[in-house]
Order: sequence, then structure tokens, then C-alpha cells
Amino acid sequence: MTLTQEMAQEISPELKAIREEIHAHPELSYEEEHTAALVVRELQKIGGYQITEHVGGSHGVLAEISGPTPGKTVALRADMDALPINEETGAPFASQTANVMHACGHDMHTTILLGAAKLIRAHQGELKGTVRLIFQPAEEASPTGGSRIMIDAGATEGVDGIFGLHVWPDVPMGVIAAKHGAQMAASDHFYVTIKGKSSHAAQPELGIDALMTAARFIEGVQPLISREKSAFDPAVCTIGTIQGGTRYNVLMETVKLEGTVRTFNEETRDRMEKHLEDVLKGACLMNGATYEFDYRRGYMSLINTPAYVDFALDAARTQFGEEKVVMPPHGSTGGEDFAFYLKDTPGAFMMLGAGKEGEKAWPLHNPHVLPDGDLLWYGAYYMATLALTFSDNIDAYIGK
Ligand code: NI
Repeated sequence: MTLTQEMAQEISPELKAIREEIHAHPELSYEEEHTAALVVRELQKIGGYQITEHVGGSHGVLAEISGPTPGKTVALRADMDALPINEETGAPFASQTANVMHACGHDMHTTILLGAAKLIRAHQGELKGTVRLIFQPAEEASPTGGSRIMIDAGATEGVDGIFGLHVWPDVPMGVIAAKHGAQMAASDHFYVTIKGKSSHAAQPELGIDALMTAARFIEGVQPLISREKSAFDPAVCTIGTIQGGTRYNVLMETVKLEGTVRTFNEETRDRMEKHLEDVLKGACLMNGATYEFDYRRGYMSLINTPAYVDFALDAARTQFGEEKVVMPPHGSTGGEDFAFYLKDTPGAFMMLGAGKEGEKAWPLHNPHVLPDGDLLWYGAYYMATLALTFSDNIDAYIGK
């Protein structure tokens, strides 16, 4: 009996209840103890899954189920952590913990994966191969990220394909969006300290003006975007803070700057890091200043495997219709630690539209954001279908 929309819709009320329970009790990155316990409780209720708790010493949970016939292994991933934000949605199931909130929809992702678990179990007889569910901790903990804990503990070993999704307020409700290649940016953070030498402002020849050096550095940075990479390879470099100076008539001895670099491929990322330091070095040389440069890498860029995107979007077309599928022309400059799974395992990360017509679309990480619970069965239906059809269908896409 093939999985149908009606079967998925039937579990909508119980999924809403689970989501509301998770939403009311959010936990920060690396602290997902109760959320993980809830996941295990629900998986045990469903039955049929081999469950591994405390993966890699974290609150991560793995659950595996196999069908009667051999086939490929497909992984589905959800993230479980919340953010240090004070909820202002006014929802009856709003966070009961001050300054902690599911403001990035990870309560939705966890519940959607539990829903998929239930639907897959109900259709275990039709399953070819194995499905591995990954409930990971600490997606928000850049630059480390919980995905690496799960990968190091073997979560992707033997996996032929991995899929994840994120509720997305900018995309219309129920639309599945994904693109080939770079879907989300690498997000890096840099710190610069320029050291000059103080002197009286009236006798600058006795000092080294760190402000002058900083100005040369700032001016030198933007040409990196326009002259050091292809126009078809997007990147952003923004200096967000600058601090220095003590008094109007004293030469600035120290200037501190901080900024961020967003890139969509690792080569450009390496180049940006190197050239930023070169510009800084050059600016310092011109004035006789010295510098400290600290470039901290956050998550790498998330690169979808084209054939797996095609497979996932075709599944959405079949389930929901052509009007519910979008391939956006460009990626998002946000970051996501699903990137690390895709580094060594083919797969795709999809946006699940949560924007409602005529309503303000609060952005993620905002104290007002509250994706609609009607997306739960919908997402569960979609993820379960990807898992149930993977073994039979993916080869046709890879062979394309
Ligand atoms: Ni998120």
C-alpha cells in the first residue's frame, strides 16, 4: 500500500502535539537532553527502529530501520537545538524558558523527522534497503556545529544519500526550494588589530597613525570582491565594527576592526582569507604599522549534489504538483552545518516554504517567528517519500 497524502494527514494532530511540546521546552546547543529523550520516547512508541542515544557523547540520536529487501542506505537529518532569544510570539505553546526559543524552526524539523519515522515504519514492508534518521545537536553552534559530532561518530558511514530540510519564511507555504551546487554560504569572521605609535596630533611625524593604516585597509578590501574572483562567483565582505582613538589631538595608536566574509566555494574562501591579510600587510607596510590578523572559519558552504536535487524536486512535483517546486537562481548568504554532511556524502538540503500570503514573514532568529504546524504532516510525508523511493529511483538520476 503506497504512502498517500491522506495517510500523512491523519497523523497531523499528533505531530502538532509533539511540536508544541518541543517548542514549549526549548534547549540550547549541546543541552538538548530533554528533546533527545522525547525523540527516543516517540521512536520507541513507533517501534521497529534500532536506536542509538548519546551519539559521540552528545545528545544526538540515530535510528535505523531496514526493509525486507536489500537496497541502498538513505539518511534523513533533523536538528534539535534552540536559540538564546526571548520568545514574543504569544503562542499558547510558547517557550516556558526565559531567553531560550525555537526561533529557527528546529522544533519543526525534529517533529517532521519523527512524523517521517512513523510513516516509514507503517510502510516498512515496501522499503528497499535502510533508512537512517539523524537527530543532531548544536546546529547553531558555529563554528563547531553538531553535524561534525554525528559524522565523527559514523552517522554517514555506508550512506548512499542524505537529505535535510529547513522551514523557510521567505518561500511561499508548502513550496519546496532547492538548487544545484552552492545553496548556502561559508560564513567566516575576522578580527584585525592595527598597531601604530601614539604622538601629539600636531607632530604626526613622531608617531605612526593607525587610523591612516585602517583607512587604507578598508579601501583595499572591496576590490577583493570586484577584482580577485569571477563575477559569477558571489561573495560578500563586510567590516562591521571599527574602534580606536582616545582624544581628538592624539594620534591613534591602535585600531580594531571586525568583519565577515561569505563565500560559496572553498577556493574563493581560501583566496579571500589570504588576500585580506595581504591587503592588511600592505597597508601596514605603507605606514610602518604592525598588525594582528585572526581569521576564524565558520561553517563551510553547503553544496548540493545536482542529481540528488533533481530526485528530491521530482518527488515534490509528483506529490504536490509543479507549482510547489522552485529552483531559486541563487543561494542564501546564511550558514548551515548540514554542509559538513554534504562534504563527503551526496545529497540535498531543501527549503520548505513557510511564508503565508498576506501575513508578515518574520525572519528566522526573530522573537516573533512561528512556522505553521500544518507544515508538519506535509514535511513528514515528503521526507518519508524520499526515503521510501530512494533505492528504486536514485540510480536513474545519477546515471543522467
Ligand atoms: Ni536553522
